[in-house]
Amino acid sequence: MAKDKDKVKVLVIDDDPKVAWILSEGLSSAFEFVTARDGVEGIQMVSTEKPMLVLLDIKMPGMSGLEVLEKLNKQNGRPEVIMISGHGDTKYVVESMRLGAAEFIDKPFDVREVEIHLNGVLERVKLRDQVSELKKELQVHNDFTSFIGDSEPMVRVKGIIEQVADSELSVLIRGESGTGKEIAARSLHQLSGRRDQPFVKVNCAAIPRDLLESELFGYEKGAFTGAHKTKQGRFELANKGTIFLDEIGDMPMELQSKLLQVLEQQEFVRVGGIQNIRVDVRIICATNRNLEQAINGQQFRDDLFYRLNEITLLLPPLRDRTDDIALLAEHFRRKYNQLYNKDYPSLSEDTLGQLTGFRWPGNVRQLENMVKQVVVRSDEQLIGELINSASNQLIGHGIGSSPMASAAPVEAAVESNSNDYSLKSLIGKTVAQEEKRLIAEVLTKTNWNRRKAAELLQISYRSLLYKIKDYSLNTTK
Ligand SMILES: Nc1ncnc2c1ncn2[C@@H]1O[C@H](COP(=O)(O)OP(=O)(O)OP(=O)(O)O)[C@@H](O)[C@H]1O
Ligand SMILES: [Mg+2]
Repeated sequence: MAKDKDKVKVLVIDDDPKVAWILSEGLSSAFEFVTARDGVEGIQMVSTEKPMLVLLDIKMPGMSGLEVLEKLNKQNGRPEVIMISGHGDTKYVVESMRLGAAEFIDKPFDVREVEIHLNGVLERVKLRDQVSELKKELQVHNDFTSFIGDSEPMVRVKGIIEQVADSELSVLIRGESGTGKEIAARSLHQLSGRRDQPFVKVNCAAIPRDLLESELFGYEKGAFTGAHKTKQGRFELANKGTIFLDEIGDMPMELQSKLLQVLEQQEFVRVGGIQNIRVDVRIICATNRNLEQAINGQQFRDDLFYRLNEITLLLPPLRDRTDDIALLAEHFRRKYNQLYNKDYPSLSEDTLGQLTGFRWPGNVRQLENMVKQVVVRSDEQLIGELINSASNQLIGHGIGSSPMASAAPVEAAVESNSNDYSLKSLIGKTVAQEEKRLIAEVLTKTNWNRRKAAELLQISYRSLLYKIKDYSLNTTK
């Protein structure tokens, strides 16, 4: 038998006490019945008892069931109402339904029949709640006005997004993990003429190598064991829209050639197929790998790099745009209040000060997680604890003399043997140099424990291995 608190509370509004008594006798294992003897008491008990369902008699002395229903309709978020009538009078059915009653039961009733009705309505309530939760989540995800930041570097990034969104130029988005590369890609799509067409994301690092080709380009029936029917690839699914190739640096060389061909010709053949398929797809890529290094190390095709990189969008690390921190924290506070039906108040000046002073190795994602925990657990003290433990982890490994301070100054000179004097390329190289220095430092401190180092650097183990290779970091261990 369910415990009282797990039972579904049902309010019976009926002048005949036998009704509630019969139901309690027959259905008490899953339901808890409370009773009101007339409409006035019933309306009051809807507020005080907060029942999940109401069983409402139509014919009562004083206020009729239909009048009660009309009054309940004026309240915010009333429970579902099932009408009962002792007269089998069908003329009330239509009126009850018009007023939004969920079901209609005739007296005398069979208890099992009532049980079926109650469970049916409950199922519908549950479904409706799930749908509204999903809608809420979707709204949070799709809210592109929520690409937050009005610091100087972010204003520049947003300016570029606005300028190039509605062009066909391929955009390569770069930046450390958690800086907002995906959200930038989605903004580019939303601001383009393709916004009503699909946005298809492919994470090249998450799909096993041998599946990536058929995932991207689809396959014909019988192309390989298990290919029972023809399947469209993501490029076809993205037709007329945008494809977002995330972690493009992790794409195997063999596939890079095919991708380049597709980009040049706008057509391809499914795996195991012969027919050319034409698509019209805008391409956006992202990576936190150093692709120039990967090109030097023969892991990335330079011709593909130039084709993908018609425009570079470099997302600055959060420590370089501290002006955005309070704004982002406030945005995430609202987001999680809404998502979890909370009402957590604005963060104090003190807490904001702590947030602004932190170095944020995991960038915006790390800030988002912190604020989410504060809202979910309704405890602002957590910020201090979380920041301290993150700082101690870094100090424990002797990384950065003061993790609470902003980023260490970047070494000035950048080795350059090219004639490329652009500021953009300087920034790219400087970031790379700083990244290399930090990774080397973490690896030394963790005694080349790569898993531990990846954890501290807040990047995936696989990304770390690539970076070690890209930067030619050597170990004797
Ligand atoms: N400017 C921003 N405004 C609002 N939310 C942001 C912003 N930047 C990042 N976020 C949020 O931070 C989280 C991480 O962002 P995103 O996934 O876009 O980062 P990323 O650069 O793709 O990271 P990774 O390299 O690890 O894939 C997401 O939940 C995203 O919504
Ligand atoms: Mg991402």
